[in-house]
Amino acid sequence: TDTALIVVAAGSGTRLGRGVPKAFAEVAGAPILEHALRGLAAIDAALVVVVPAGLEADAAVIAARAGVTVSVVVGGETRADSVAAGLDAARDARWVLVHDAARALTPAAQVERVIAALRAGASAVVPVLPVVDTIRAVTPASLAEPDELGAIVDRAGLRAMQTPQGFDATVLRRAYAEADARVASTDDAQLVQALGLPVAAVRGDDLAFKITTPADADRAESLLGPAIR
Ligand code: CTP
Ligand code: MG
Repeated sequence: TDTALIVVAAGSGTRLGRGVPKAFAEVAGAPILEHALRGLAAIDAALVVVVPAGLEADAAVIAARAGVTVSVVVGGETRADSVAAGLDAARDARWVLVHDAARALTPAAQVERVIAALRAGASAVVPVLPVVDTIRAVTPASLAEPDELGAIVDRAGLRAMQTPQGFDATVLRRAYAEADARVASTDDAQLVQALGLPVAAVRGDDLAFKITTPADADRAESLLGPAIR
């Protein structure tokens, strides 16, 4: 295959607060990483899983249980460091997708939409969803003064970014090589945009939500149903 799918799973999961790295925390009877990998089993791509140091063997066991073959590499301090580590392991790929393990319920169809857009010629692709919340922009002054809220932002002009984000491998490598460490964000497409290159959007999905808080884990648990084994 000419496509690599990097699954970043090296975060600590501070906000979930389970005391283990988030991808290794159990939801509905299996680690979040196992759910994520099960959802990717049908995708025609070489899987690279990026995990915290010391959990490489655990990740291999989880992948076997999910029924997928993966390369396991150790991540870094920030998400961008982890993506860079995954990118180093995805040498021969023409296209690279970067996906959060924490978006464990992402429908395969969403991954396929990203791949299809790359094959149709886009060099960077992001799944997006309309924003449903009413959002206010705060300023330093409004943060300092609890009675002073910033202005409401017209949400019609806003989109929430999801993953997998897909890239022409050469473009993503260049974006990472030239990225200012300070820009190193949670959004890889931002680095591509910083090069002045266009980023295409495809439709995201509510099911691709990121498990971040305990409430998100509860939501995942209820969607997954009873323990899978
Ligand atoms: N990630 C990673 N390496 C890091 C930080 C994050 O691979 N150094 C991954 C996480 O494992 C996750 C995805 O990036 O799949 C999105 O990050 P986030 O939801 O913030 O996960 P955590 O950083 O683990 O959570 P928290 O910020 O609450 O600690
Ligand atoms: Mg984080």
